[in-house]
Amino acid sequence: MAHQSDLIADDILAYLNAQENKSLLRFITCGSVDDGKSTLIGRLLWDSKLIFEDQLAALQADSKKVGTQGGDIDYALLLDGLQAEREQGITIDVAYRFFSTDKRKFIVADTPGHEQYTRNMATGASNADIAVILVDGRKGILTQTKRHSYIVSLVGIRKVVVAVNKMDLVDYSKERFLEIEEEYRAFAKDLGFEDITCIPISALKGDNMIAASEQTHWYHGPTLLSYLETVPVASELKEKPFRLPVQWVNRPNLDFRGFSGTVEAGSVKPGDEIAVPSSGQTSIVDRIVTMDGDLDEAIAGQAVTITLKDEIDISRGDMLVDAKARPDYADQFEAKIIWMHEDALLPGRSYVIKFGTQAAGAQVSELKYKVNVNTLDHAAAKTLELNEVGICNIALDRNIAFDPYSASPGTGRFILIDRYSNATVGVGMIDHALRRATNVHWQSLDINKEQRAERKGQKACVLWFTGLSGSGKSTIANLVEKKLYSLNKHTYALDGDNVRHGLNKDLGFSDADRVENIRRIGETAKLFVDAGMITLTSFISPFKSERKLARDLLEEGEFIEIFVDTPLEICEARDVKGLYAKARAGDLPNFTGISSPYEAPENPEIHIDGAVMGAEEAAEEIVKRLEEFGILSAWFPEI
Ligand code: ADX
Repeated sequence: MAHQSDLIADDILAYLNAQENKSLLRFITCGSVDDGKSTLIGRLLWDSKLIFEDQLAALQADSKKVGTQGGDIDYALLLDGLQAEREQGITIDVAYRFFSTDKRKFIVADTPGHEQYTRNMATGASNADIAVILVDGRKGILTQTKRHSYIVSLVGIRKVVVAVNKMDLVDYSKERFLEIEEEYRAFAKDLGFEDITCIPISALKGDNMIAASEQTHWYHGPTLLSYLETVPVASELKEKPFRLPVQWVNRPNLDFRGFSGTVEAGSVKPGDEIAVPSSGQTSIVDRIVTMDGDLDEAIAGQAVTITLKDEIDISRGDMLVDAKARPDYADQFEAKIIWMHEDALLPGRSYVIKFGTQAAGAQVSELKYKVNVNTLDHAAAKTLELNEVGICNIALDRNIAFDPYSASPGTGRFILIDRYSNATVGVGMIDHALRRATNVHWQSLDINKEQRAERKGQKACVLWFTGLSGSGKSTIANLVEKKLYSLNKHTYALDGDNVRHGLNKDLGFSDADRVENIRRIGETAKLFVDAGMITLTSFISPFKSERKLARDLLEEGEFIEIFVDTPLEICEARDVKGLYAKARAGDLPNFTGISSPYEAPENPEIHIDGAVMGAEEAAEEIVKRLEEFGILSAWFPEI
């Protein structure tokens, strides 16, 4: 590695000590290759001399070869070289780089600036202390400058540097610089930044990068590096109320019970009173245990094990919090979401939400609007596409402890995960808890589902028919219901076409509307099951996620999925309602099987091969299976 400090040779212990005690600044650079972003990072790395020597040699050789800078060193090549992306000329993922000076250590997140990389930028910015926003001095504030600023403000960055680059190409004009500064400050006034520092630079020539430039004698602010070396950071987290999400309960023997995790915010000392939001119980901190012995205090960022004076009920996923400044504990909140996946967000769909160690089921109950990241304008939206930002209400399936993101980022941010692919599909920042409907409690009734079903001589359940339009679902369900009726069973049938005339007449056939359609049917079917009925539903119900949602609303054994597996060609040939013809002609958009997907069940309880079985035969088969499942005899609850 290149030589970096005289201390290494003179006093290695002093050097190591200084290294250890140096503070760390994490920052993100926002801009495009054209703005000189790679040149800027390259120069910072170069001037801090933390470049591997073989890279230095390669860089000098490459610069001569490529010759973009007339034989001078091209700092942009350094970055491109590190990423092996020279041919593409743009950076794709979040790249983190480490460098250090005598005063500080730095981690810089480098992400591409194009709109299709919004999610990368949000990821890179989400753990940065400050953002360096690059502006080309010739071009001034562009749409992308606004987008970058909005994204960094969204993930909670409060300090930005506007690096007005390429000042050499505008003759180091003070007027041009002030004009850009004024325009930026006017634009950014609503983004909630607490500090905006504008610096005129030339990353290529080195003006105001490390040393003050001779060319900008009118500028009296810091150079970029001196700003980065001195801007205060991180201490604020320590001032916030104490939060420790419990990662695991450490119980090596009967005498020791500790709660391990990383302090997300604030600080804690032995003797402090803490509370556990899930139970409301409180206790006093006894010890703060670490591998290196007990601590007198633990602060944000430290991983510790805490023991308490009292035996209270705490498990993984709980949070230890300052008893006098408790977080919200609720199942609904408003949040900003950045969508990270090619499959759009569908309100009503059940996702897994994760807050650190806590997980729950979550639905976007209302998508209020999306934000145009270029203009910051609001627009009505039914879904969020990849890289879009939306403001929504989210409903969880249980209470969770959290804070508004602005108050405590570590306990106010979450990710959304797709139940099937397990992919992270969105990230979110909580604005505030919603207290709607918290004064509604479950009313227990004396007569229950089992009693209602027993009186009818059956077990309550849902026969969930799924399959393409024209597959025969409704015909078979109708025959099954007639057979059950003649066996004196109590039934009710919910049918797609019929329900869409009433309860769901506000819904069409977009993915989002189908999700809502099935969510309502799942809830309705649950009520009928509670009434003790054998409930038949026939809906295309094309998505696995929502069929699973409906299944999960019921108890084990109550959801009987019947896949009427009739191939598309046969459904289309039958075309009872003439809809396939219309769809093929392009007159019916989003038609299942033609222009909208159908996700076939993998493990249905009953599989009907619609190509070989007639409706009557299928209905007989289903009734036979119901007998085997014990549905048709009275249900005797275990006592
Ligand atoms: S689902 O996809 O939301 O489950 P549902 O079962 O309620 O659909 O409604 C399907 C019925 O609506 C079809 O049998 C057909 O008669 C009618 N329909 C009208 N337009 C469409 C469409 N674009 N896709 C599918 N079915 C449609």
